[in-house]
Amino acid sequence: MKVLLTHIKELLQVRDAAPNLVSGKDMATLPTIKNAWLLLEGDRIADYGSMDTVPQHDVSETIDCSGKMVLPTWCDSHTHLVYAGNREQEFVDRIKGLSYQEIAQKGGGIVNSAKKLQNTPEEELYRQSAARLEEVMRLGTGAIEIKSGYGLTTEAELKMLRVAKKLAENYPISVRTTFLGAHAIPSEYKGNKNGYMDLLCNEMLPKVASENLAEYVDVFCEEGYFSVEDTHRLLSEAASYHLIPKIHVNQFTALGGIAAGVQHNALSVDHLEVLTDADIAALQGSKTMPVALPSCSYFLSIPYTPGRKLIDAGLPLALATDYNPGSTPSGNMNFVVATACIKMKLTPEEAINAATLNGAYAMGLSSSHGSITKGKKANVIITKEIPSYGYLPYAFGSNLIDAVIINGEQL
Ligand code: NIG
Ligand code: FE
Repeated sequence: MKVLLTHIKELLQVRDAAPNLVSGKDMATLPTIKNAWLLLEGDRIADYGSMDTVPQHDVSETIDCSGKMVLPTWCDSHTHLVYAGNREQEFVDRIKGLSYQEIAQKGGGIVNSAKKLQNTPEEELYRQSAARLEEVMRLGTGAIEIKSGYGLTTEAELKMLRVAKKLAENYPISVRTTFLGAHAIPSEYKGNKNGYMDLLCNEMLPKVASENLAEYVDVFCEEGYFSVEDTHRLLSEAASYHLIPKIHVNQFTALGGIAAGVQHNALSVDHLEVLTDADIAALQGSKTMPVALPSCSYFLSIPYTPGRKLIDAGLPLALATDYNPGSTPSGNMNFVVATACIKMKLTPEEAINAATLNGAYAMGLSSSHGSITKGKKANVIITKEIPSYGYLPYAFGSNLIDAVIINGEQL
């Protein structure tokens, strides 16, 4: 099956030899071809060029993209897409003045979602999660990471990861899974965090690994959740099962968790709303990708990750949604890209790099995703007719997507 896209107003993020990531000043460059064509063959990108070289191939389908932009699908490297029910009531409580932390202290928050999930049958959890996955695919996401962490018992954590794996089997989108058993201390272990740490290390980790349910391990390193010491213990244990860390850190407080993550060769450190100079120094020279989650900041009215500062320090930056029922009930990467421009002062070029190439890196998919490169996955967004690519973040409330192709399949 060959599909030829012709008369593309501008083909974005075209890289003949794509780097694994872009950092610092290089993030300001977004390579494009104006008046372009793109050939997709099966599930792969076969070739591309400008219209004066359009091939006279025998193709199964030709799509005229006059006036439209084509870009690689978004790479959302941080989500909690598998969850049960919602936390609409806590949203209203926050409007009325309670803080996210106060709600958690009263037994709401992650523990509340865990109770709901534990009581939800696996098929129902799959049904609710599949609806969200279909929604984000239509919004242009072509690769996604999904975490556990709303189970908090061995059985419920495994249930979440099985659901994520089943989604991976049934949908064309690429899915990477992360074990986040260390998301909160469950009520049964209140006052006995070490007991829960033992359960995580001695029972959950070995089961997740032996059933091959996750590629990555995560921990919420934060006051009232897991300490830097807990983080060291969990990540050391996880390393013996070859689980690579991607951690929640510096959302509310800077405890030194970023340096801990770097020390354990974390693929990414995520959130970073609160960031010290020591944190930035810890990231310098490392292979760890800082990941910002601006729609979480938006929803919780907390500070935005100082993305400008990270990029100006020569570091890379990825953008992700954090889609979850508590802090970010949205999986819309288009909104994330716009918010990064509007609130974090990223340029459109930087934001698009952060949401494609660098997002792919943050879930170990740079060789197959994140750019228009021969041999990479046939994953593209075709926009509606728009004046320029800067219009994507500018018109932040409009749905500017005309069509999405994932793994060569048009949705
Ligand atoms: O990434 N901060 C920790 N975990 C999630 C939110 C969890 C929740 O409130 O349910 C996050 O924001
Ligand atoms: Fe998260």
